[in-house]
Amino acid sequence: MKNSQRLDKLLSNFGYGTRSEIRNLMKDGTVKVDGNIVKDASMHVDPLSSTIELRGRILNYREFIYLMMNKPAGVISATTDKKLKTAVDLLPEEFSCFDLFPAGRLDIDTEGMLLLTNDGQLAHNLLSPKKHVSKRYHAIIDGMVTEADAKAFREGVMLDDGYVTMPANLEIIKSGQHSEIELELHEGKFHQVKRMFEAVGKKVIYLKRIRMGGLKLDESLEPGACRELTPEELELLKQRNT
Ligand code: URA
Repeated sequence: MKNSQRLDKLLSNFGYGTRSEIRNLMKDGTVKVDGNIVKDASMHVDPLSSTIELRGRILNYREFIYLMMNKPAGVISATTDKKLKTAVDLLPEEFSCFDLFPAGRLDIDTEGMLLLTNDGQLAHNLLSPKKHVSKRYHAIIDGMVTEADAKAFREGVMLDDGYVTMPANLEIIKSGQHSEIELELHEGKFHQVKRMFEAVGKKVIYLKRIRMGGLKLDESLEPGACRELTPEELELLKQRNT
């Protein structure tokens, strides 16, 4: 049994108490595996193939978890930090046993779609430059964004380190002293949106990621909230990845 784990450890990871608390719970006959009361805390169980019940509630164990978060500003896309609040700090308790990490980075002041998963392969595919998974951003720019900027972004602009960007699609929603745009990138260099606008002499004053590959941010998610992807959404994400 490849995924088998000690029952007390498994239940403890699910947040049902310390291992000794779990052992006491089990003595009272509150834990069932495949319908049978189990009192031996050292029993090894495969949570993927067995049904585990605690006080009549079936544990919903999954090997991989995929969450979409609407990251608020002021939070970093990391698992832990000594000083700053991280996206993982915002996760509801029920996900604490899954070792989730953000698949990709958003700046501290950037809002919007952040995926959190424990599926290293999917995260790798999403971020691999070879896979060219597109990322779409909504932004407010200090300055008048024009068709000349759209042309420059289509052709590639030179960033401050000499890197020339891949063709990107700039859609101007409103052009004025403050402009509103959407930008679709097929790569993910550090601070890329901000640096591309700097390359054309403008400053990003608000940035939000609204799409990754075929997957759109669920706008009903409040800032800081998250939810699991539906099977259809996961498929959309994987299609762009294979
Ligand atoms: N580009 C940026 O400049 N910042 C982000 O957070 C994402 C893309």
